[in-house]
Amino acid sequence: MAVRIDGKAVSAKVREQVAQEVASLKAQGVCPGLAVIIVGDDPASKIYVNNKKKACQATGIYSEEYALPGDTSQKELLDLVADLNHKEDIHGILVQSPLPKGLDEKAVVEAIDPQKDVDAFHAYNVGKIMIGDYHFLPCTPAGIMELLKAYDIAVEGKQCVVIGRSNIVGKPMAMLLLHQNGTVTVCHSRTKNLAEITRQGDILVSAAGKSHFVTADMVKPGAVVIDVGMNRDENGKLCGDVDFDGVELVASYITPVPGGVGPMTIAMLLKNTVTAAKLQNDLL
Ligand code: GUN
Repeated sequence: MAVRIDGKAVSAKVREQVAQEVASLKAQGVCPGLAVIIVGDDPASKIYVNNKKKACQATGIYSEEYALPGDTSQKELLDLVADLNHKEDIHGILVQSPLPKGLDEKAVVEAIDPQKDVDAFHAYNVGKIMIGDYHFLPCTPAGIMELLKAYDIAVEGKQCVVIGRSNIVGKPMAMLLLHQNGTVTVCHSRTKNLAEITRQGDILVSAAGKSHFVTADMVKPGAVVIDVGMNRDENGKLCGDVDFDGVELVASYITPVPGGVGPMTIAMLLKNTVTAAKLQNDLL
């Protein structure tokens, strides 16, 4: 039976560290500030943004929320980003994804000052990650690396299999595992013989976005299984990609949904905001 990785407990520790760093920065006259922009009224995005705001409050980070109507123009959004780029009390800017149809998300991300890009989505930061010389990491893959560290799970020399090749999770995840000397395979929707490949993974990370996608027969006995999925099952209940009850019997470690990777994502956003505040005040 696999050990359940407790993302809530690990994220609480990260938040505690963040709160201490915030206090120490404030003593030096710097209050880390995060601006979160949300456009339209996607219910899931509203919940995420609200959770981000609450997490900032709990750790002493100053936050501003910009809730813009769904018919906001590209120019209005770019003007807001430009204003925030110049605002001295704002160190991090996050534009909640997805944006309503008609808005060019890529152009908006590229308009963010790379030093304030706490999502690490800007091409400059993506390039920095690729060469292993970075200040910010995307929150979800960074949170997963933090979970592995917290449970003393070594990556070096391991076969790591990542399902999904998104810019937010799959690609940076592969890069971070590679930086830790894992041997990495990235699978995606066109991969042939998926189960054959996933069965080789000592560490299997699934970001497929499909419930019950990873079944026990796809998992190597003793593997570490990390579930990035945020799906709804047939009954509307939140669930991951992994068929938890079956895979739990085969894996050595497993992240539940909820309570696994999810809580880490916000904790890493707070950490990036503190890093951004230090970076912009020559305190790194
Ligand atoms: N939407 C879902 N996850 C994220 C995230 O990590 N950052 C942003 N900006 N939007 C998201």
